[in-house]
Amino acid sequence: MDAIAAAPRTILLGTCCLLYFVVYPIIVYFHDAKGLRKFPNMHPLSGISSIPFMIVAHGGARSTYLSQLHKKHAVIRTGPNTLSYADTRAIRDIYGHSTKCTKDALYALAAGSHFHLADVINKPDHARKRKVLSSAYALKNLEGWEHKVADTTARLIAHFDKCCTAPMSQERRIPDPADLKVDYRAWTNFFTIDAIADIGLSEKFGLLDAGHDRVIGRRTNGTTYQCNFRDCLDQTGRKQSLLIWPYEWYPLINKIANVIPFYGRMGKFATDWDGIPLELAHRRLERYRAGEQLDDFFQALMEDKNGKPNNLEWGEIVAEISIMMNAGSATTAIAMANVMYQLLKNPKVMKILVNELDAALGDDDDDDEPSQTVVVPYDRVKHLPYLRACLDESLRLAPPNTQSLSRETPPGGTDIMGDYVAGGVTVGISALVAHRIESVFPQADQFIPERWLGEEGKNLQPYFLAFSTGARGCIGRNISYLEQTVLLASVLRRYEFALPHPQWEIQRLETMNWLLGEMPVKVWKRKRPRI
Ligand code: HEM
Ligand SMILES: *[C@@H]1O[C@H](CO)[C@@H](O)[C@H](O)[C@H]1NC(C)=O
Ligand SMILES: *[C@@H]1O[C@H](CO)[C@@H](O)[C@H](O)[C@H]1NC(C)=O
Repeated sequence: MDAIAAAPRTILLGTCCLLYFVVYPIIVYFHDAKGLRKFPNMHPLSGISSIPFMIVAHGGARSTYLSQLHKKHAVIRTGPNTLSYADTRAIRDIYGHSTKCTKDALYALAAGSHFHLADVINKPDHARKRKVLSSAYALKNLEGWEHKVADTTARLIAHFDKCCTAPMSQERRIPDPADLKVDYRAWTNFFTIDAIADIGLSEKFGLLDAGHDRVIGRRTNGTTYQCNFRDCLDQTGRKQSLLIWPYEWYPLINKIANVIPFYGRMGKFATDWDGIPLELAHRRLERYRAGEQLDDFFQALMEDKNGKPNNLEWGEIVAEISIMMNAGSATTAIAMANVMYQLLKNPKVMKILVNELDAALGDDDDDDEPSQTVVVPYDRVKHLPYLRACLDESLRLAPPNTQSLSRETPPGGTDIMGDYVAGGVTVGISALVAHRIESVFPQADQFIPERWLGEEGKNLQPYFLAFSTGARGCIGRNISYLEQTVLLASVLRRYEFALPHPQWEIQRLETMNWLLGEMPVKVWKRKRPRI
């Protein structure tokens, strides 16, 4: 082919691209069939393209960025078809039980071969799944899970005991770097993975005993491989959070991106992730077939309370196990590390909390007991108001899941904040953005657990979005509070902790979740005052 023949083709291709990618979106923008031009743009090009939002996403702090912009605007157009809200009146319209909105196309794009409870879009399908699963997640089972959580806590304590160093002198306040023996972020994640594997699948995963998260994955052809649980999960979410925003292009972009090493590595982790729930499901199925009677989610997925088979497809069961291992571990671990971080940064709050614990638990256990007996029973601490306030304030300030949970307006459109929005528009509120609305949460950037106490605190609950709300709100909320409460009470009774230095700050990276970097701490046995 000679250069003269190639030139017209190049020009033709160039012209087509220009028309399709530039001229057409501009025409759509000005035609404005959905009436979205009245909303302020995140970026001058946001009405025409999702690229500005993708660029912001690559900065790893998109919701923090949005929350700054939202100080001036209640509604912001973040993409050609996408609106971000920062007004408490929008919560009910978008997420409330009577909302006409549904989960949007993002969930289908991120889904595997079968939908699971969290990504299923169709409302009747969701209701069917939620019914099956709520018997698994029901409150009465909490008691059944307590001993599993207690066992997991005991194993964490066994490790922390080994890491204890000499008490830190009050005046120094900066630990010897050699004493920073625990990465609190990693160990709380080992904790939540072990706990949900046991609760969900009666699997003794043993990450807390091994001290790492190298696990076995299974390919569809039955062969297995090793991979790191947290990397697989985190990188899967990270790739989505960088590339998913132009929905109609994502399947293509996702494939092309794999050629670029930066994304290709994440793609490999995503493939590896798929095999982890598959392997776990496979192992559990073998026990089921062998006739073992086990009290866990898997059992509830297979049969109803009367032993009648649910007849779910195997792909659906694996999908449910996948979301359970994912949502059931990552977010709670982030929450646990965040609250400890906040308490260490706010010694006055820590003191009030520890006093509350001591007052409730008295002097009836002995710190020389073996670790099984030093796990604080949930019953003794679940109603402590300051403890719950600390957990909630930490979840407010740093919600583990920050994405603007995207919902699609119904075909005929709907009113949001009393303002008509056309059909087929993606709308959402990020918990991070909502939790920084100053009129609801004064001094929103500060860690102030007191705001959650008493009547005033109760009145804030409708604006607390860490677990979302309405029919699609988190089903694992109670399990999460159980784990967070027992772990925090148990470790604060037994130890003191210190960050590398008082000004030390944790690294954060926003993907779909708000990931944390390492959190090295010094641990030492607490001298408890005798009451
Ligand atoms: C601090 C811990 C947790 C946080 C912050 C959290 C947050 C959330 C949020 C924001 C949603 C809504 C997602 C959406 O609209 O796309 C959700 C749903 C869900 N969460 Fe959680 N979650 C936590 C713990 C858990 C645990 C421990 C489990 C499982 C044991 C779990 C399982 C689920 C499931 C299955 C859904 C989908 C519910 C549905 O659509 O019916 N989560 N969670
Ligand atoms: C299974 O799949 C893997 C990866 O695709 C491949 O390397 C391996 O040879 C396959 N094994 C069998 C037994 O088919
Ligand atoms: C959590 O427990 C409360 C009672 O404490 C109950 O009303 C609620 O339905 C439970 N939530 C879930 C998601 O199971």
